[in-house]
Amino acid sequence: MKTTVFGKLPDGREVHRYLMANKAGVRVEIIDYGATITSLRVPDRNGKMDDVVLGYDSLEGYVQGTAYFGAIVGRYGNRIAKGKFQLDGKEYQLTVNDGENHLHGGRTGFNKVLWDANPAVSSEPSLEMQYVSREGEEGYPGTVTLKVRYELTDANELRIEYEGATERPTILNPTQHSYFNLSGDFTKTILGHQLMIESDSITPVDQGLIPTGQILNVENTPLDFRVPTAIGARIEDPDPQLAFGKGYDHNWVPRGAAGKVRKAAELFDPASGRLMTVLTDQPGIQFYSGNFLDGSAKGKGGIAYQRRTGLCLEAQAFPDTPNKPQFPSVTLRPGQVYRQTTIYRFSTR
Ligand code: GLA
Repeated sequence: MKTTVFGKLPDGREVHRYLMANKAGVRVEIIDYGATITSLRVPDRNGKMDDVVLGYDSLEGYVQGTAYFGAIVGRYGNRIAKGKFQLDGKEYQLTVNDGENHLHGGRTGFNKVLWDANPAVSSEPSLEMQYVSREGEEGYPGTVTLKVRYELTDANELRIEYEGATERPTILNPTQHSYFNLSGDFTKTILGHQLMIESDSITPVDQGLIPTGQILNVENTPLDFRVPTAIGARIEDPDPQLAFGKGYDHNWVPRGAAGKVRKAAELFDPASGRLMTVLTDQPGIQFYSGNFLDGSAKGKGGIAYQRRTGLCLEAQAFPDTPNKPQFPSVTLRPGQVYRQTTIYRFSTR
C-alpha cells in the first residue's frame, strides 16, 4: 500500500491517497475525503490498463463538486421525501437539498467529510475507513459509526464491506457512488455500454424521483434489462419513468433474497471488452445514467464531463424507505450491526 498526501482541506487537515494494486496489475486509488475511489485501472481485452471511473485530479474538485464522484454516500443514499420521517413515533426533519427532498445524506454528507483511514495488508490489499457521524448531523438521530473496508482481490474484484452501529435508533443506508465508463475514454458517453440487471421490477417514482410505493414489472418497458441491452437503445423512448428520471435514474429490485450476496448487474463495453459484474446483498440497485452531468464538472485531465459520460450502479435499500413501511427496513437500533457487502468484479470478453 502506497500512501501520499493528496491535498489539504480549507481547515488545514491533510487528505491522503492510498494506492492498492493486485498481482494482475489492477490499481485502485482511494482518498480519505469521502472514502472516495479516485481511480480504478483495469485491463481491456488486450491487457491495456485504463482508468474506468470519473473523478478529479485534485482535492478541490472533490470539495467543490456536486456529482458525488466515487464517494461513499450517507447516511442515506438517495432520496427521502421532504426530508421527513418518523421513527418510534417521533418526527425528524433532515436537511432538504434536492428540490423539496433530502438527497444523499444532506448538504455535508459522508462524501464531504474526512474519514479515518487504517491501511492494512492482509492476504490481499485492503483499506479500512471509519467515520463517526454525530447525533443531529443533517438532522439524523443517534451517533453512528460507519466502517467501510475496501479490498482488491487477485480475482480483480473490488470488495466493499460496510459495518455500522448507532447509539440511538436511527436510519442507515450508505452506498458507493462511482461513475463508471468502461471505455476509459471520458470524452465518450456510456450509451453504447450493454447493461443487464438481474431484476424483473423497479420501484417507480414520481416527478421528484420519490417512489410511489408500488413495484412495477419491467416487462414491455424501456426499463427491462433482463437481457443485455445497450443503454442508449431506448433511453429516449417516450415513457413516463424515463421522463421523470431524464433518462435512467431508478431503483431495480434484484432477484433473490437480500442479505445474501448475489449477482445484481453486468455492464459490458463491446469496444474494449471490459465487463463489470456487480454483486451485492442489498435489496436494491440504483442505475443512474449520468443524466445530470452537463459539462460543468472539469474532471481528470481537464476533460469536461458531458451528459451520460458515466453511469452509477449503487447498491442500497430502496429510496424513501423511512416513509414506505412496505419496503425492507433501514432502521438501525443500538446493539444491532448494519452490514453490507458489494463487489465490483472486472473481467473481459
Ligand atoms: C443519484 C440519484 C440521482 C442524482 C445522482 C447525483 O444517483 O439517483 O438522481 O442525484 O445521484 O447527481
